[in-house]
Amino acid sequence: MADNKKTATLEFGDTRVDLPMYSPTAGPDVIDISKLYAQAGVFTYDPGFTSTASCDSTITYIDGIKGELLHRGYPIDQLAEKSHYLEVCYLLLYGELPSAAQLEAFENRVTRHTMVHEQMHNFFRGFRRDAHPMATMVGVVGAMSAFYHDSLDINDPDQREVASVRMIAKLPTIAAMAYKYSIGQPFIYPRNDLDYSANFLQMCFAVPAEDYEVNPILSRAMDRILTLHADHEQNASTSTVRLAGSSGANPFACIAAGIACLWGPSHGGANQACLEMLKEIGTPDRIPEFIARAKDKEDPFRLMGFGHRVYKNFDPRAKVMKQSADEVLDLLGVEDNPVLQVAKELEAAALADPYFADKKLFPNVDFYSGIILEAMGFPTSMFTPIFALSRTVGWISQWKEMLGDPGQKIGRPRQLYLGETMRNYVDVEDR
Ligand code: CMC
Repeated sequence: MADNKKTATLEFGDTRVDLPMYSPTAGPDVIDISKLYAQAGVFTYDPGFTSTASCDSTITYIDGIKGELLHRGYPIDQLAEKSHYLEVCYLLLYGELPSAAQLEAFENRVTRHTMVHEQMHNFFRGFRRDAHPMATMVGVVGAMSAFYHDSLDINDPDQREVASVRMIAKLPTIAAMAYKYSIGQPFIYPRNDLDYSANFLQMCFAVPAEDYEVNPILSRAMDRILTLHADHEQNASTSTVRLAGSSGANPFACIAAGIACLWGPSHGGANQACLEMLKEIGTPDRIPEFIARAKDKEDPFRLMGFGHRVYKNFDPRAKVMKQSADEVLDLLGVEDNPVLQVAKELEAAALADPYFADKKLFPNVDFYSGIILEAMGFPTSMFTPIFALSRTVGWISQWKEMLGDPGQKIGRPRQLYLGETMRNYVDVEDR
């Protein structure tokens, strides 16, 4: 824990409490209220945790005003440019960039764990054929705890490590299987001669009937999508994983909880929601109508892929993703695609509109990731599963950090109760 030479004083009525303050290495100071109830008999109230730090962490730092995202201190644009997904996984998990030998050993280890237990194929077949791949992922990742009994003991560091590597290695296989199942094609086994992203693409797009060659520009773009989504400090799904893990739940159950949370359209489901919105808009002439709806207080509609809880000037991931989108669209020659045309014009129209500028609403990473994935040939239902597989390493890193914290406690928020006070039960005939 950082220094606590400073204190904050809270006064209400006759009560006065001094609360310790801590200074982080970057970001605003925090006031420690953990003893507040014991000292002063009050709770704090912060729906949505907009001002509450739930843990200390050394993994990821975001400065929403500057538009800065650092993993273990390294800026995301440098990592997206110079590194690759598995190296970023190593960095997130172990805290430092690996030496060449460490990276080779890690990549080897992950590659040797990409197959799933053969019996899991039967498990998949229990889902309805038209199941959303996220529904399948929540179920299958949770079910990994029924297949890998030798990595469930969270108190054994070796088992924690094996569970971590298994999930990083198998999530692409599981996501690809969920996709293949949903379109009625045979599962494609992983290939150890391909890198992580190329292997994922071949598991999604190859068929047993013919050879499939992975285009290196597309696998590089996929690697960037994975890198840009790898971690994002204490967002909703990560906090869900930490909360689930705080009870001592097994690692597969915790990651399944994270996947469930990520599914929502305000979080990981935004890239799917964004593409569906672009398709609903259909043609550029309808853009003003949708912009007007987004601005109308009476209409719950929001421009999907715009705005962020933390980034209030720009999303640094979106900058890199936009560049990647241009490369992929160039390669595939799909400039005439009507969805992409609507996307380009909607972006320009929203950026020129004072409503969005005043509220600091800019395109986020999901605005562009959906465009790339659509151009690559993924259906919208696969967008969130791809986000889930890339975020798995972030969830695991945060979960391991939490378990390693000697002061770790079960998460248990308080509430502002506004219901009835105690009243006596009324027999049914008297109601
Ligand atoms: N379109 C129109 N208005 C918006 C939008 C939007 N996309 N986002 C926020 N606003 C307005 C909102 O109505 C509110 O207006 P007012 O102050 O007049 O009531 C103001 O901006 C602030 O909104 P908020 O809901 O208090 O902001 P928040 O920080 O709680 O919400 C958000 C952040 C991401 C949930 C929200 O911007 C949103 O719903 N965006 C669309 C969904 C989306 O793209 N999500 C992906 C986020 S990036 C991926 C990830 O990291 O998970």
